[in-house]
This record gives sequence, structure tokens and C-alpha cells, in this order.
Amino acid sequence: MGFLDNLKWRFATKEFDVDRPVSKEGLDKILTAIRMAPTSYGLQSFHVYVVENLDLKKKIKTRSFLQKQIDTCSHLLIFCARTDKKNISQRIDDYIDLATGGDKVKKLKMQPAKLMMKGSIKMKSDEDVACWSSKQCYIALGFGLAAAAELNIDSCPMEGFDKKAVDKILQLPANLNSTVFLAVGNRKEDPSRAKIRFSNEDMFTHN
Ligand SMILES: Cc1cc2nc3c(=O)[nH]c(=O)nc-3n(C[C@H](O)[C@H](O)[C@H](O)COP(=O)(O)O)c2cc1C
Repeated sequence: MGFLDNLKWRFATKEFDVDRPVSKEGLDKILTAIRMAPTSYGLQSFHVYVVENLDLKKKIKTRSFLQKQIDTCSHLLIFCARTDKKNISQRIDDYIDLATGGDKVKKLKMQPAKLMMKGSIKMKSDEDVACWSSKQCYIALGFGLAAAAELNIDSCPMEGFDKKAVDKILQLPANLNSTVFLAVGNRKEDPSRAKIRFSNEDMFTHN
């Protein structure tokens, strides 16, 4: 099947087959797609927890409206936005180091970009930074979803959980906020209904 057929094949899986976990190779490909996703300034201002431990999944399920995906999925990917402005500022320094390999001349050349990035973060409120980081999570979520479909691995994007409670369960540092889940596994059953999508006319305007 081609890419678009695979997008039609995928669905928000409600229950996974616990006897058919995702292979390490499949998981690694999904994580690579997430890592390759484009992000604002390339800062990748999020961190992903990959939860495989069943006890941990069960704890998370209690704060996720008892949705079955949580403890039947093979891996629960938890996208956490980096929220703290100081932390983001440090990330800009780390990004420059990564991009230049620490070379002083290259660093000097990147100084205008660094100042521009730092200035733009400084201007934002704490809430704006948290919102900006959470948007990056969703872009990466989309890449993970598409990669899973392409690999014929089932998945479910999920926002139906108590974020503060999940932060506590994962003992997240103050600068990380759980934002969205991607549960991956192999479907227990095929979807019970056909896909529902609005028409092209509804969705697109060609000028
Ligand atoms: C950001 C986001 C959050 C979602 N949260 C949940 C969720 O908590 N539980 C769930 O069963 N489905 C969840 N969904 C799945 C959507 O309901 C589903 O993608 C949509 O109805 C379209 O169906 P399809 O993905 O099967 O094509 C979520 C989807 C997105 C993109």
C-alpha cells in the first residue's frame, strides 16, 4: 500500500492486542520520525517518555478516563513540552553548540541567530512559551502518527488525560509538562465504522 492508502488504513485504535507488541525496529522508526520532525528554530522544545512498564501504564490509565489504549498498547509515548523560559534559553545555547561543534568562528557567525532566538523567547510570557512548546509536540505527534501508519503499526493520539496527575505519576521536572500521548501497538479489532471526513470543498479553497 502507498502512503495515502496507509493513512486511510490507520484509525484511532481503541484497544490493542497485548499479544502482538511493536518490534524494537518498528518503535525505533517511529521515534526517528518524531526526532526528524521540523520544529520552531529547530529547538525541539519537548521530551518524549516511552512507557513500556505495565504498572506505570495502569497508574496512568486511572488518570486517563480508564481508556483501554493505555494499558493494552505496546508503548505509550508521552510528549512533554519544555515550558521554562530559562530552560529554553539554555536550549538555544545547546543548539548553537550542537550546530557549530563548539567552533568559535562558527559560533560567532551564529551570534545574530542566537540573539534573535533569545529575543523572541524573552518577549513571550511563560504561558506563551508553554503554548509554543506544546505546538511543537503536536507537529512531532503528526510525524509519529504518519510514520506508524506507513509501517502498518496501529496508534492512537490521545489528549484525554489529567495532565497535572500524569506529570506527578512520571515525576516530571518543573520544566516539563505532559501534553499529548501517542499509544502504539497492533489493533485488537478492525474499526467498527468507516472513516468520517469533511469534503474537499469544506476543507480547501483553491485560489
Ligand atoms: C490531539 C488528539 C487527541 C485525541 N484524544 C483522543 C483520546 O483521548 N481518546 C481517543 O479515543 N481518541 C482520541 N483522539 C482520536 C480522534 O478522536 C480521532 O483521531 C478522530 O476521531 C478521527 O478518527 P481516526 O483517527 O480514526 O481517523 C485524539 C486525536 C487527536 C488528534
